[in-house]
Amino acid sequence: MSHPYHHLFEPGTGSTAPPLLLLHGTGGNEHDLLRLGRTLSPGSALLSPRGDVSEGGALRFFARLAEGVFDPAEVSRRTLALADWLAAAAKRYHLDPARLTAVGFSNGANIAATLLQLRPQSLGAAVLLRPMVVLDQPAAPGSLAGKRVLLLNGNVDPIVPLDHPPRLAALLRAGGAEVTQQLLPASHGFTPADVAAAQDWLTRR
Ligand code: MLT
Repeated sequence: MSHPYHHLFEPGTGSTAPPLLLLHGTGGNEHDLLRLGRTLSPGSALLSPRGDVSEGGALRFFARLAEGVFDPAEVSRRTLALADWLAAAAKRYHLDPARLTAVGFSNGANIAATLLQLRPQSLGAAVLLRPMVVLDQPAAPGSLAGKRVLLLNGNVDPIVPLDHPPRLAALLRAGGAEVTQQLLPASHGFTPADVAAAQDWLTRR
């Protein structure tokens, strides 16, 4: 594989459940979202890479200059490296990228969004828990046609400014994505209401 990510893969048990790509938040690892993935979509294959950038020991998927301050070149480079690895992993594990559904939290949600913006063919759908605008760049027209994205944010999140979810929704809609945006009574951590909203959205596919 191009750029190896340490990862976990659990094969699916049902042929109809979409494979999930689990992307953890800052300071997490490849184990963090396994239970969430199993809860959201029993039977799905789970592919869960570990972020390969260390911020004082806390693992992430791209470096940042400060909290909420990003270097577009760094974000693009890391996003494309993850996309290249994903393409190879999809072949290795016989996953259809058009059905691959990202479930990302915080920094993991952010790299799922930049994957959609920069390499839209990597994913078929995405559940983004607490995403923000990292790359202020609209998706290319038509590049996200037929793809569904759920944005779940908290109304008292100290990390994600309130104008970011609608701005991110607009950047993804520019590519033709069908975006559902929900603001929940929550902070940055996800809650049972997020799990319920994601389950509901996934079953409506
Ligand atoms: C990021 O850096 O991706 C966001 O600030 C989310 C976080 O990791 O705290």
